[in-house]
Formats: sequence, C-alpha cells, structure tokens
Amino acid sequence: MKKLIIALALGAVSASVTTLAAAADVKRGEELVKKYNCASCHGADFNKPIDPSYPKLAGQHADYIAHALNAYKRGGDQTNGRSNPIMAGFAKPLSNQDMIDIGAYLASLPSQLVVSK
Ligand code: HEC
Repeated sequence: MKKLIIALALGAVSASVTTLAAAADVKRGEELVKKYNCASCHGADFNKPIDPSYPKLAGQHADYIAHALNAYKRGGDQTNGRSNPIMAGFAKPLSNQDMIDIGAYLASLPSQLVVSK
C-alpha cells in the first residue's frame, strides 16, 4: 500500500511538472511584463538595466526566472526565499502560471549574458 501511494504521488508530480512545462505561454509572458512595466528597471530589451546592479534578464533560463520570482514572493525569511523590497512587491501578485509565462518570454529574448572568465 505504501509503495502504491508513493508511486501515485510520484506520478502526480511528474504529470504536473510536464503540464506546467508544456503550458508556458510566451505571448502571455510578454503581456505581463508590459503590464507591470518590468523593463522600466530591467531596461530596453531586458538587456540594458537602468543600474549596473540590476540584473539582465534577456535569455536567462526560464525555470531560473520562475524560481527567482517565486523566491521573492516567498520572502527572505522562508526556505529558498529571497529578500528584496523592490522585487517582493512585483512578485507578490504573480501566480505560478504568471511566473512560468514570464520566464518563457524572457528566456526567448536575445541574450547578452556571459560567464566571466
Ligand atoms: C523598480 C525596479 C524594478 C522593477 C520595476 C522590476 N524589477 Fe526585477 N529586479 C530589480 C532589482 C533591483 C533586482 C535585484 C534584486 C536582488 O538583489 O535580489 C531584480 C531582480 C529580478 C530577478 C532576479 C534575477 C536574477 O538573476 O536572479 C527577476 C527574475 C526579476 N527581477 C524579474 C522582474 C519582473 C518579471 C518584473 C516585472 C513584473 C520586475 N523584475 C520588475 C528591480 C526591478
């Protein structure tokens, strides 16, 4: 019985992960970043942040972006949370689907991200 429950639980997890990955909507992600005016800080094309300490987002991995947004929403006092007063405010109203769609859109943009040597 225990094994059956574990198998069912794992099945449910992998099914929901597959569904989420398949359901990313790039167009909706673009609409959301326009609605919240994310480029006002992260810059034109999400490549030219208005301050050098602000991260470039264009071409970042979609799952990383969704995870980061989730972490700001969770807050720095939670496990795997991030504390940043600016981003906490922007992440708060976002649903999981919003974060996935935003991640998919930003990941689709031409990237200037590099690994420093
Ligand atoms: C008022 C300025 C401002 C606005 C508007 C803004 N951000 Fe940010 N964002 C920041 C700053 C500053 C950071 C770095 C915070 C830190 O140090 O954790 C950041 C970090 C991030 C990160 C983490 C990047 C990484 O490499 O870890 C993501 C993802 C992000 N923002 C997405 C968004 C999205 C999506 C929106 C719109 C819903 C948005 N931001 C709007 C200032 C802003």
